[in-house]
Amino acid sequence: MAASSVIPSLLLFLFLAAVAAAAASSNPNGYMHLRFYNHERILGSGPSATVVYAVQRRDSNSGAGFGNVIVYDNLLRSGVETDSPIVGRNQGMGVGSSLAENSGLTNFQLVFTAGKYNGSSLALQGLFPVAPLGTVFERAISGGTGKFRLARGYLLTTEVRATNTTLTGQLDAYITFR
Ligand SMILES: *[C@@H]1O[C@H](CO)[C@@H](O)[C@H](O)[C@H]1NC(C)=O
Ligand SMILES: *[C@@H]1O[C@H](CO)[C@@H](O)[C@H](O)[C@H]1NC(C)=O
Repeated sequence: MAASSVIPSLLLFLFLAAVAAAAASSNPNGYMHLRFYNHERILGSGPSATVVYAVQRRDSNSGAGFGNVIVYDNLLRSGVETDSPIVGRNQGMGVGSSLAENSGLTNFQLVFTAGKYNGSSLALQGLFPVAPLGTVFERAISGGTGKFRLARGYLLTTEVRATNTTLTGQLDAYITFR
């Protein structure tokens, strides 16, 4: 991966998911729909800072570099704004799993800490592509706990805002219990 793409790759790779139970509704196919926002701080520190631990292959500086491992703990908020209410955390990991270094395999838990889903969580897995802002990509909801026991479904992720220190993503979870 070219040096110039190292930073964007890292940012996109770190920006892993999102959660906040801002909107809940059913779509025509009977899926419950929840919309969350993942707030990740790339740089700096503070009460809302993302905690990231990265293990990088010696010959790769890319966040999506094959074999690299990133462990993260992001805040989930009900909205895009940085002062939106906190509804949970997005805790998980990403592994550079593409030889072309254009995606990583993410495995994470959306843990709710407020609102009607406080104490419940969703389990997710899927590829996180290195792609421009606005790209929609999909990952699988493989299960859950509490109010999400036996949940299945899919999560659509779109990066909606990037600054030089933060990355904010919209997550739309479509959940069924059938
Ligand atoms: C969430 O649930 C925990 C455990 O029951 C409780 O201590 C906490 O106050 C709740 N948080 C909110 C924001 O309701
Ligand atoms: C981020 O951008 C702001 C201006 O928008 C600038 O003041 C600040 O120094 C930048 N921070 C970094 C770490 O580049």
